Amino acid sequence: MSFVTVTLAFALTVGYGVMAQRRAAQDAELLRSGYVPLMLSLGAALENQNLVSTQLNHITEARNPSDARRWIETARRVRPKVFADVRQAVARGVMPSTDADARMLGQRIVVDVSGIEEFLSQDGDWLAKLFDALANGRVEQAEKLRDDIVAHESEGARRIREIKSRVEAEMDQRTASARARERRSLQSLIALAALTLGVAVGMTLYARRVLGPLAQVTERAKAVAGGDMTPRAVVEAKDEIGELAATFESMVEAIGRANRDRVRAERLAAVGRMAAHVTHEIRNPLSSIGLNLELLEEEMQSAGVETEARQLLGAIRREVDHLSSLSEEYLSLARPKTPRLELEGLAEIVREACTFVAPEMERASVRMRLEVDDGLPDVLLDEAQIRQALSNLVRNAREAMPKGGVLTIGLHQVEGAVELTISDTGQGIAEDIRQNIFDPFFTTKNRGTGLGLAITRQIVEAHAGTISCEAVEPSGTRFRIRLRTAREQAAAQAAGQGTA
Ligand SMILES: Nc1ncnc2c1ncn2[C@@H]1O[C@H](COP(=O)(O)OP(=O)(O)OP(=O)(O)O)[C@@H](O)[C@H]1O
Ligand SMILES: [Mg+2]
Repeated sequence: MSFVTVTLAFALTVGYGVMAQRRAAQDAELLRSGYVPLMLSLGAALENQNLVSTQLNHITEARNPSDARRWIETARRVRPKVFADVRQAVARGVMPSTDADARMLGQRIVVDVSGIEEFLSQDGDWLAKLFDALANGRVEQAEKLRDDIVAHESEGARRIREIKSRVEAEMDQRTASARARERRSLQSLIALAALTLGVAVGMTLYARRVLGPLAQVTERAKAVAGGDMTPRAVVEAKDEIGELAATFESMVEAIGRANRDRVRAERLAAVGRMAAHVTHEIRNPLSSIGLNLELLEEEMQSAGVETEARQLLGAIRREVDHLSSLSEEYLSLARPKTPRLELEGLAEIVREACTFVAPEMERASVRMRLEVDDGLPDVLLDEAQIRQALSNLVRNAREAMPKGGVLTIGLHQVEGAVELTISDTGQGIAEDIRQNIFDPFFTTKNRGTGLGLAITRQIVEAHAGTISCEAVEPSGTRFRIRLRTAREQAAAQAAGQGTA
């Protein structure tokens, strides 16, 4: 737009300048070869008239009137030539002009000059009478005739002067308009320069404002290349660069997500391999150790031994149990069992689970609240797996509240699904690790495996459900599991998108 503005302004000014230049050249030509020679020829005609008038003024008092008579006759003879010069000046210099006004003036002058010439030519008879009266000494008659002729000649001179001043006025007017045109040319040149400068400054500022954020996008790209994948809004603008920055951020987010998925898949594969070892190398010896420990405990009990040795045996047994459950967890993650789906009511499972963990929660000073909607629809689920998922979440909640707190388990119907929420009033999850908590082996606990949430997610996804996690104000965490109702699942399957 600025380019078009400057180009247009430039074209207009140049066009105007060229026109003004042409007009000025035409005017100068008209003055040089038209009006100036015309003024000179008019001046000559006037002088000739003056000569006649001067000689007439003195002719009655002159000692030798025949001299004056010669002068007058000469002037009268020259007269046609003088007027012809005027007409010729018009024909040569004014009539060829392209200016219609000038041509019209020329035509009028030619007509007027012919009129004056004819008017003056009437003095011939009077002059003859005057010379006759002078020759015969009729002084009184001669003076009267002289006065009449002088008046006649003066009228002719006045008319010539009138034409002269018309031409003069025309010359003045042309000079003035040439000056005005020059002034306007200069003004428009100055205006163009100011406009160009303004547009240039405006464009520079605009470009700086528009392109400035590009530097931020570049910095951000470098940071991403250096490994900073945390999504952030670098440019707030709503223009193309803002859009570019937003698209870039969504790309960074997608890459981050893909990376996390890859890491998860790699870890799962590693777990798979390890689990195979664990199963073969550790599980069997562990179960025989467990079995032998049981026998040993029984023997000690029947022998009535109540010593420290029996307590140690208990500790060993707990560790062995821990190891067994660990190997079970590895196994369940590495080789997930396909859920055996049955139509069940979630409310019952949740209530039973609560009763089961109630003593443990009481010991940990955690108050439990159960919020269950009435008349919830049944869901297709594998009871054992859902219990396991629920137990993982409840255990995490308890571990997040070492000094006690409130655990709220909700069960509500939402559009096409049943939603299970587990909320605690614990320390919450820092924003920067929230996206990692479902990764296998991700843990912030000393004795944690980081498998609880990974297994839970696996179970929920095997049920074609979703799991998410959010912060609770003022502090705490809420996990949200959605399982589609049986009717929704059937509809989804019919539409070819069900996975359960
Ligand atoms: N309710 C919660 N409150 C705060 N942090 C939590 C909560 N649930 C999970 N987390 C965080 O998520 C991490 C991963 O949880 P996950 O259950 O997968 O493993 P873990 O609890 O650390 O180990 P394990 O489940 O084997 O004991 C935890 O270490 C913890 O940092
Ligand atoms: Mg856990």
